[in-house]
Amino acid sequence: MYHDFTYEAVLASSLRAQWKLDDVLRADQELDFSRYMMPESLSGTAALAGLSEDERRILNQIVAYQYLHLFGMVEEFILPFVLDHARPMLNEDDFRVRALLNFASEEAKHIHLFKRFCEAFARGFPVVCRVVGPRETLSAVILNRHPLAVGLIILMIEWMTQEHYLGSIRDNQDLDPLFKSLMRNHWMEEAQHAKLDTLIVEALAEGRSPKQLKHVFQEFVVIVSFIDKCLGAQAALNVQTLQRASGRRVDDAPGMIAQLHSAARWTYLGSGMGHPRFKAAAEAISPLLATAIEKLSVQVAVPVVPQLAAAPAG
Ligand SMILES: [Fe+2]
Ligand SMILES: [Fe+2]
Repeated sequence: MYHDFTYEAVLASSLRAQWKLDDVLRADQELDFSRYMMPESLSGTAALAGLSEDERRILNQIVAYQYLHLFGMVEEFILPFVLDHARPMLNEDDFRVRALLNFASEEAKHIHLFKRFCEAFARGFPVVCRVVGPRETLSAVILNRHPLAVGLIILMIEWMTQEHYLGSIRDNQDLDPLFKSLMRNHWMEEAQHAKLDTLIVEALAEGRSPKQLKHVFQEFVVIVSFIDKCLGAQAALNVQTLQRASGRRVDDAPGMIAQLHSAARWTYLGSGMGHPRFKAAAEAISPLLATAIEKLSVQVAVPVVPQLAAAPAG
């Protein structure tokens, strides 16, 4: 066994780590729009040529809003997934029932928190940020796929939040403190969710034949492709929002969209799919499944590199 997670231990850790919404952001608190909100490794905005310092910061904030929106959407399909998994066995292991209901409750709290940040963002940002959606429709597309494929996607997402905070945010002193606090608090509770998701995925994978696992991987690819398509569409909307916020057209919109899409691929797919704990979970289900996911991750796991500077400065 590559881990020692149990429902009882995770529940105990979760209850110790819990925080309240107002501990992170009160409903009347304002974000600091003079600051960056996302680290460069997740936003990919530093290498873009032809932007003023103000425009670069504005674009960084638009990408931060994207994070709020997309994670809000993600939480919305995790919540019913966890409840569906808990419901058939409510009379069995008490720790399991309590751990899963607590997991669902925390995700409901995260949905509320991301909405509160979206509202604070909207109060302080000069224009409306357009986003892909509606969220319910996007969530439904994912939830309709094979449960084990959905479970693997969720596990990937839980581990990616660990990578985002520890790898790029914890030691970053340049970010808006409230946004940084959001990421820290989310990371704390997600660390326990990742363990519970590991147990969920193991239960869903038990007894699956190689043929069934091949189908699960195909379903996983369908979801990844769908997410990637959303990320591309969101990148285009982000550039439109930048143009409205700055009051001018950017010099190389297609180049900027491509760079933002590439950064988002790393943030929302590559950083999770390449996480060692996610890879270990896939390996424990089936080495063939792990290899297939590894190959897929190579296609999306391209960290942001400062190379795309197609537009002339000025
Ligand atoms: Fe969450
Ligand atoms: Fe979570």
